[in-house]
Parts: sequence; structure tokens; C-alpha cells
Amino acid sequence: MSPEPLGGARPGERPGERREAARGAVVRDALDPLLVDPGMSVVDVGGGTGGHAVRLAALGHRVVVVDPSPDALASLHRRATEAGVEDRVEGVQGDLGDLRGPGGVVAAGSVDLLLCHGVLEIVADPEEALDALAGVLRPGGHLSLVVAQRYAAVLARAMAGQFVAARELLDDPAGQAGRTGRRFARAELEQLLAAAGLRTVSVHGVRVFADLVPGALLDAEPGSSQALVELERAAAQRPELQPLASQLHVVAQR
Ligand SMILES: C[S@@+](CC[C@H](N)C(=O)[O-])C[C@H]1O[C@@H](n2cnc3c(N)ncnc32)[C@H](O)[C@@H]1O
Repeated sequence: MSPEPLGGARPGERPGERREAARGAVVRDALDPLLVDPGMSVVDVGGGTGGHAVRLAALGHRVVVVDPSPDALASLHRRATEAGVEDRVEGVQGDLGDLRGPGGVVAAGSVDLLLCHGVLEIVADPEEALDALAGVLRPGGHLSLVVAQRYAAVLARAMAGQFVAARELLDDPAGQAGRTGRRFARAELEQLLAAAGLRTVSVHGVRVFADLVPGALLDAEPGSSQALVELERAAAQRPELQPLASQLHVVAQR
């Protein structure tokens, strides 16, 4: 299978898919430079149905997806088989806690690239989770972390007229007032990573505008979806726009 094209929203895509296109492009832009060696050992914790796993396996890497959902793992298996990469993708039913200890699903200190996207928001203890993630990385290995960003959620609540909820989230140092899980500010995230012995290499804003733009505007002119993806890629690099981003993508190194 040839790797997915970078960025491109396709004709007929719905707003949710366009947001995915924007997220995918920004995350791939930061991930691909890390894929320097052939046949790297990659683990995707909470990798779900394998969007990243199948692409990375198609590039020749060995990928283990650890996820508690049997349905997600079944879809992963189907996708990997359809793409002809099932020999390089392994699905393991488990969760972040199963990475720990001698009986962990992955050997300690063995992983070149560890993905943890959209999971830190929902675990009981993010500090403990980052510690477990750091433990399976080899020295010099990279962690790719995607988390919900707090101030975008504050803005969304305020714009929806939910002023009390916006204030609660703004003032909540643990970012736990989010109904769908924890939200992180960049500084908090960098502190958590440092406490786990991980050095922050880069931080990108993900979906800076994609969640704010009404879907109808994306249909208004031909090429506007692709233009939004390119705008997102440019905005991702700008620290001053990060408080608007729905998510942060952090690359950290052990
Ligand atoms: C929001 S989805 C993100 C999926 C994928 N990583 C992505 O970015 O598209 C969260 C995923 O984490 C899994 N999950 C939930 N709790 C988890 C835990 N404690 N450890 C690992 N994965 C978990 C869910 O089954 C689900 O597949």
C-alpha cells in the first residue's frame, strides 16, 4: 500500500472528516522526520482502529497497538489485512497500565517511537501514565503525545454562552472540569513530561481553526478544504496561536 497523501481533504468530506484531515496533516508533519531508520519499533497506546499503525507499517515499521477495546482491535486487524501489512501490525488488548513492570506487554527500554494520542485526557493519573510511557522508550526514543488543549475548550464554552462552565475550566488547575476528560495547558504538559524524565522537542497546535470554521464555509469555494489544511499546517508552527488549538501535539525524547 502506498502511504496516504499528506493533508488533502477530499471532495464530499464532512466537517468531522475535514477536522481529521487538518489534525492528520499536522501530526504527520511532526512524526515523519522521526522515522529515520528502517524497521523501527513503534507502539501506539490507545491506537484504536489503527489510523497511524497501518500507515507506519506500510512505511516498513513494526507496530504494536495496545488498546482496551476489542472492537477497535478487530477494525485494526481488518484495516491491516486490507492494506497487506498484517505481518507488521500486532493488536494487544490492554491499557496504559499494562506497559508497566517485568510482565508488561512491551519490554522496558525497547521502543523507538511511542504514540499516545487522545488518551492522557481519560486516564486516572497522567503522571503515572507518563512514567509508564517513559519506561518503555529506549534512551533517545521519542514519545508522540496528542492531548486536548484547555483554552480552546474555555473559548468554545464561552462562545456557546456557557459562561459558568468556561470559568470553571479556566480556573481549574488540573483541567478536569472538561466533561469529556482532562484538558491540558502547554506549561502543565511540559512540567509533567519533565517529571517523567522526558525532554520536550517540539509542540504544535492542532486544529487551530478547523473546529471554529462553520462547515458551510468549507463548501463555499472549491479548494477551501485543502486551503484550510495548509492554513492549519502554517498555524501549527506559531506558538502565539497555540491557546486557540483544540489539541496540542508534543514530541518528547527520553
Ligand atoms: C479518543 S480515542 C483515540 C484513538 C487514536 N489514538 C486517535 O488519536 O485517533 C481513545 C482510545 O484510547 C483507548 N483507551 C481508553 N482508555 C485507555 C487506557 N487506559 N489505556 C490505553 N488506551 C485507552 C480507547 O479504546 C480508544 O481507542
